[in-house]
Amino acid sequence: MPHPTQVQAEQFGAHNYHPLEVVVHRAEGSWVYDTEGKGYLDLLSAYSALNFGHRHPNLIAAAKAQLELVTLTSRAFHNDQLGPFLAELTDFVGLDLALPMNTGAEAVETAIKAARAWGYRIKAVPADQAVIVVCDGNFHGRTTTIVSFSDDPTARDDFGPFTPGFVSVPFGDVAALRVALAQPNAVGFLVEPVQGEAGIVVPPVGYLKAARQLCDEHNVLLIADEIQSGLGRTGRTFACEHEGVVPDAYLLGKALGGGIYPVSAVVARREVLGVFRPGEHGSTFGGNPLGAAIGREVIRMLRTGEYQQRSAELGEHLLARLRAEAPETVREVRGIGLWAGIEMYPEAGPARQRCEALLLEGVLAKDTHSTTIRLAPPLIIELSELDWAIDRVLKVLA
Ligand SMILES: Cc1ncc(COP(=O)(O)O)c(C=O)c1O
Repeated sequence: MPHPTQVQAEQFGAHNYHPLEVVVHRAEGSWVYDTEGKGYLDLLSAYSALNFGHRHPNLIAAAKAQLELVTLTSRAFHNDQLGPFLAELTDFVGLDLALPMNTGAEAVETAIKAARAWGYRIKAVPADQAVIVVCDGNFHGRTTTIVSFSDDPTARDDFGPFTPGFVSVPFGDVAALRVALAQPNAVGFLVEPVQGEAGIVVPPVGYLKAARQLCDEHNVLLIADEIQSGLGRTGRTFACEHEGVVPDAYLLGKALGGGIYPVSAVVARREVLGVFRPGEHGSTFGGNPLGAAIGREVIRMLRTGEYQQRSAELGEHLLARLRAEAPETVREVRGIGLWAGIEMYPEAGPARQRCEALLLEGVLAKDTHSTTIRLAPPLIIELSELDWAIDRVLKVLA
């Protein structure tokens, strides 16, 4: 029997999602509890927004303290959290300027506008001719401009006409990228260093380094969408670090808000974000003091390096066990850090069924692209909990 609140959601809500049959009532750390009190280990972490687990005490304390002071000013006025947040964020990331927004898609939109304006004002690309290169299989969000360069029919079909100015190349293909970036109107290469939604697709070693070199060669901005891969998920603060690459702009979101509040940002070189003039871009909630206070605590926590290290160590264990013990229904286990995509043979049936079976075992995970199960446990998960979950994953895969 579906819970009455689930019935309401289905009756009164648009059906733009197809959630698994669990109604969460409360959560703590790596665990969520349904309306009957049954516990589930959360191996999705809200697509990495919950890198620090649910309701981390430091983050809850930071949010509560700020709730007692001021939550929203709009950018019509200064607030005393925004300045320190931007200073600490840029220092932590190692780039010059930051522009705060709320959702990931807004950070992507911000970067698209910045890259285009940079193209016209700095690179001297002819008006309205700027091209941004993206990758096949990308996922950068759901706005009309962003779905314009998606190749996923579910994201695109019936939502045109689409925004022009994007060219897509195969992910991981240096030769194709070389050709695309050589066009004189190219202003940016927007890339997920690891494609999350596509099923945790890790590019060939050297790809990001080659992308950095090609962008330098052709005076094109390298824009790394680390909204899902960043802030500890891959065992480093940023996935780009695995190749020693520093992009011209990082796009951050999800975990930047500590799983409490939507906080996103573009963090970039001065020349890139410096293009914006008052009135050209913004958001009522972007840079609000509540989000900024939470973001500051997220940065404080990441500075310890503890979460990155846990991700690297636990991730190695997760991937090693999955690779060694996966049954013959599994075609491939991809991953990096505490982030795995288990791709099943199509004959093994839909991945969603396995996720439904996992739910009955007390584990939350989500399918992607019908044959892949993705796992992104909170970085605070204990080894014993992870092993408990892996046992159940292997059971339902068989
Ligand atoms: C790489 C990447 N970029 C952008 C987004 C969009 O973020 P949001 O859903 O907060 O708009 C996502 C969301 O999954 C993502 O994975």
